Amino acid sequence: MKTSSEIRSQFLKFFQERQHLIVESAPIIAKDDPTLMFNNSGMAQFKDNFLGIKPPKALRIADTQKCLRASGKHNDLDDVGHDTYHHTMFEMLGNWSFGDYYKTDAIAWAWDLLHNTFGIPKDDIYVTIFGGDEGDNMPEDVDALEEWKKWVDESHILRGSKKDNFWEMGDTGPCGPCSELHVDIRSAEEKAKSPGRDHVNNDHPQVVEIWNLVFMEFNRKADKSLESLPAKNVDTGMGFERLCMALQGKQSNYDTDLFRPYIDFLEKEYGCKYGRTEEESIAMRVVMDHIRSICFCIADGQVPSNGKAGYVVRRILRRASRYGFQFLGRTEPFLYRLVDVLAAIYADVFPEVNAQKAFIKRVIEEEEKSFLRTLERGTRLFDEYVREHQNNVRIIDGQFAFNLYDRFGFPIDLTKVMAKEQGWSVDEDTFEALLKAQRDGGRTAGEVKTGDWVEVQPMNGMPVFTGYETTEGTSQITRYRTLETAKGKVYQVVLDRTPFYAESGGQVGDTGFLRSANETLKVLDTKKENDLIIHFVEELPEIATGEWAAEVDAERRRLIRANHSATHLLHAALRRVLGTHVEQKGSLVSDQILRFDFSHFQKMTDAEITEVERIVNSKIAEGIALSERRNVPISEAKTLGAMMLFGEKYGDAVRVITFDPKYSVELCGGVHVQNTSEIRLFKLVSEGSISTGVRRIEAVTSDGAITYMEQKLAILESLTDLLRNPQDPAKALETLLDANKKLEKDLQKLQAAAVGDLKEGLLARAKSVGNLTLINEVVEVPSDKELKTLAFDLRKGLTNAVIVLGAIFDGKPMLNVVITEDLDAAKTVNAGNLIREIAKEIQGGGGGQSFFASAGGKDAAGIAKAVAKAEVLLG
Ligand code: SER
Repeated sequence: MKTSSEIRSQFLKFFQERQHLIVESAPIIAKDDPTLMFNNSGMAQFKDNFLGIKPPKALRIADTQKCLRASGKHNDLDDVGHDTYHHTMFEMLGNWSFGDYYKTDAIAWAWDLLHNTFGIPKDDIYVTIFGGDEGDNMPEDVDALEEWKKWVDESHILRGSKKDNFWEMGDTGPCGPCSELHVDIRSAEEKAKSPGRDHVNNDHPQVVEIWNLVFMEFNRKADKSLESLPAKNVDTGMGFERLCMALQGKQSNYDTDLFRPYIDFLEKEYGCKYGRTEEESIAMRVVMDHIRSICFCIADGQVPSNGKAGYVVRRILRRASRYGFQFLGRTEPFLYRLVDVLAAIYADVFPEVNAQKAFIKRVIEEEEKSFLRTLERGTRLFDEYVREHQNNVRIIDGQFAFNLYDRFGFPIDLTKVMAKEQGWSVDEDTFEALLKAQRDGGRTAGEVKTGDWVEVQPMNGMPVFTGYETTEGTSQITRYRTLETAKGKVYQVVLDRTPFYAESGGQVGDTGFLRSANETLKVLDTKKENDLIIHFVEELPEIATGEWAAEVDAERRRLIRANHSATHLLHAALRRVLGTHVEQKGSLVSDQILRFDFSHFQKMTDAEITEVERIVNSKIAEGIALSERRNVPISEAKTLGAMMLFGEKYGDAVRVITFDPKYSVELCGGVHVQNTSEIRLFKLVSEGSISTGVRRIEAVTSDGAITYMEQKLAILESLTDLLRNPQDPAKALETLLDANKKLEKDLQKLQAAAVGDLKEGLLARAKSVGNLTLINEVVEVPSDKELKTLAFDLRKGLTNAVIVLGAIFDGKPMLNVVITEDLDAAKTVNAGNLIREIAKEIQGGGGGQSFFASAGGKDAAGIAKAVAKAEVLLG
């Protein structure tokens, strides 16, 4: 049997022999593409090449791409585990032609590889072609049909609709008709019962699509129309796990060597048994599938969190944890132990997991622990709910189920299962309505309508960034478009060359102005879309053509530079002080602040913080000159010991930023100071945890650090003044606080004594009204709490008595009425009724129970009258 590694290598070799450049998988987390959170297909990294915005590295390329389909247009999350051939994370083997070969070769090679090289029998292969679509005014793909006829019997060719045979990346973007290859791996007996073609695209687990050949020749525009791309391209994607299933003679992806090791582990370590029951098998598949998504995302830099992509990772992890909890009896963390199994499977092709194993395990384990606590809390709340609603109709309120889900992260499926176990049901309609309302609410707030590009002049290649050398220059506008957001319209402008830095690598985008002879456009921000540099402007140019002066806000840029270089100095200092397990996990560099997220599991001690600050400031004082090298081959950068981040998309040639080769060497596209002395001062402002295993430092430099220090000093000075300029202000303050604490205690004692005296006096002055004892006075006590305590203390020694106390707190009148237990039992006097009457005198209202009531009011002047009125009413 061929191993999965051999199959992968054979695929790549096949296309290498046909002059394809073999490239690495892009990170699973999509970078610099606002329309995508995760790479969901092999072609995502080539989007700009298809659109003709960026020239491809080679006209023929092939690779294996880590893909995730758990959000957005392509989302299989809810099905995964229930069948044997869908995944959240999967590898997509792909070959691409950028305006080079087209249908003839793409089809011939696909056939050659599957049939001749891999040996899949002719009879087991079915192909589909695009049958045309009236709406898009597209005819049947006759060319593909003719090509297939060269290899396949017509009975094995099917025509498909737009749904199956017109592939689109998203709502907009490159697309085109496609031709799929399906394999029939049913037993001979099954095959005899019905022809394979009846099962193509009909959800049969053993008649599955294996390869999709897309003939990418259109761009779907925002108005839904199709425009021709500059060239006719090929984009193919083959499901690697399914290919392994077919070639390894298995009936399920999970029986291949890509998954079997997890099954063995779960059976050996936890006594699970794959195939014992349907529920157990589904749960094991969920776990096996999800651990892959979780590991690859964390390895590529996305830890579980409440943010967008982080939340998808968190949801996948929680789904796996819940299936483990519910169906595999796993009440302790266990997913993290599968990381070792996964790292071994992918050691040769995706070594990033192996390299970060300890970190990935720790993150998963902590996340599991916290989710298990959530499950416990949710179960407790659920049990309480059921106990309290025993006499009802045995339906769990939809709002309650939604609160469990929304506030406590408790899965609705579990609520349903638990309800069923107790013979209850859940009001799912209400739950769904609430969920929908929440989602719709979220959608309208964040929805953006992106218009199509208006071309001013053709782009000759990608915009040139001149901002490393300068903050000004002259440019031409090449294209612009409109963006409609909930907040209003903004416009995006692309220049042929620009000094504006587009937000990336954590560094914020530049702001400034674009000026022509007649107009000035304010640049609010600059962002990247893949490699396109986009300027956000307030207004559209009236005349877009002609020359424009591009001017970056240079003062803001100066502060950004200082913060960015300080970030590198900080990164190196952290590795020195805390250890080399410190890896950058995120960063923000603006003109105001630098924020640096890094892997580390403990809170930094004060001594560590001081040491880090000391090192960074000493590097600033050393006045180290910047060494900036562009276009360094990536292999050379590696030998220089440059810090590379997992999950970062590096090209073949990189920019290396060095501040002393022995101290800080990083691959970086950002802007930097020429000499560290320009940073002037570094001050760490905060250190804390942002998610499991990831800590965040915020710091200021340059003008910001000086202002920060000045403010702190000003606070210290005013405190010193208030303390009358002691030698040691901290000690003086401590003495003062100690003295204050002692005074407070003394005061409490005195107050207690005063209240005691007051109580004695009140008891002595108690009067008889009819056959009742009445205490009704206005008293002075510190707060309403003492007023109530006093009233209840008085009640203790009395029978058949009513206590009416009034007081004024901060100018506001307050009344308390308390009656003794015997009187309450006799029901002759009601505290609530009494207070309602007397509170009228203070223009107030209030109420309470039969034995105790309180009321506030607006008119403090009436307090004595109110208290006196009780005597009249009871008399
Ligand atoms: N883009 C196509 C797909 O994802 C083929 O690579 O199916």
